[in-house]
Amino acid sequence: MKKILITGATSGIGKGLVEIYQEHAHVYACGRNAEVLNHYNTFDNITPLQFDVTDINDIKLKTSSIDSIDILVLNAGNCEYIDDARNFDSVLFERVVRVNLLSIGYCLDALLKKVEPGGQLVIVSSSAAFLALPRAQAYGASKAAVTYLAQTLAVDLKEIDVSVVHPGFVKTPLTDKNDFPMPMAVTVDEAAIYIKKGVEKRKRDIHFPKRFTIIMKLFQLLPFGMWKVIAKGLSR
Ligand SMILES: NC(=O)c1ccc[n+]([C@@H]2O[C@H](COP(=O)([O-])OP(=O)(O)OC[C@H]3O[C@@H](n4cnc5c(N)ncnc54)[C@H](OP(=O)(O)O)[C@@H]3O)[C@@H](O)[C@H]2O)c1
Repeated sequence: MKKILITGATSGIGKGLVEIYQEHAHVYACGRNAEVLNHYNTFDNITPLQFDVTDINDIKLKTSSIDSIDILVLNAGNCEYIDDARNFDSVLFERVVRVNLLSIGYCLDALLKKVEPGGQLVIVSSSAAFLALPRAQAYGASKAAVTYLAQTLAVDLKEIDVSVVHPGFVKTPLTDKNDFPMPMAVTVDEAAIYIKKGVEKRKRDIHFPKRFTIIMKLFQLLPFGMWKVIAKGLSR
C-alpha cells in the first residue's frame, strides 16, 4: 500500500485529498486542528500528525517515526490580502510568506529524504502565481515563489517526480472569507479529483479548472501595461 503524507490535511483541499486517498493508500494527515485529527484517528488507513509547518523542529519531531513516503503533498497555506499597498503591512507579509513559502522549505528539509526513489513530490501553489492581482502582494508573491521553487526542484531532483498544483478558485474555509466574485469556483471534491488524476499522470503542472486557468495563462501573454489596466478594473 502506497504511503502519502499531506500537509494542510484538516480543511479544504487537503481534507478532500485525505478522503479520496485513504480508500487505497495509507495517509499521514497533517495539521493543527485537534478535532479533525482526532476524527482521523478512527480510520485504519489514516495516521494523524499534529505539527505547525512553520516550525522545523516540530515537523522533524512529529514525523521522526516515518521511514518512507511514496507521495509527499505540501499543501498547507493561508491567504491574507494587503488592503492598502501604500501603508505596506510587513507583519502580514512575513506571516503569509512564512506559512506559504518558508514552510515548504522546512517540510522539504524534514521529509524529502524520506521520499522513495520513483516517488512523487506535489507542491500546491495557486493560479494567483500567474498574474499580478490586486491586493495579492503577499499571497501572490509567496505563491509565485512556490511555483519557482517547485520548478527548480523538478530540474534538480533525480528519481523523484515533481508536480506543482495551480488551482483556480476552490470553495473552502480559506476562500469563504473572500469579499469578491470567484469565477468558475469548484468544490473541494472536484479539486481533489483533479489533483489525484494529475498526480497519477505525474503531470508537472496540475492546473484546474482549465476553463479558468487557461484564460489566466493567456492573460500572462499580454504586455504588462495592458494587464495592469485589466487588473486595476478588477480592484474596483
Ligand atoms: N481555495 C482556493 O481557492 C485555493 C486556490 C489556489 C490555491 N490554494 C492553496 O491550496 C492550499 C489549501 O488551501 P485551502 O483553500 O484548502 O485552505 P484551508 O481550507 O484554509 O486549509 C488550509 C490548511 O492549511 C493548514 N495550515 C495553515 N497554516 C498552518 C500551519 N502554520 N501549520 C500547519 N498547518 C497549517 C490548515 O491546518 P490547521 O487549520 O489544522 O492549522 C488547513 O488544513 C493552500 O496552499 C492555498 O494557498 C487554494
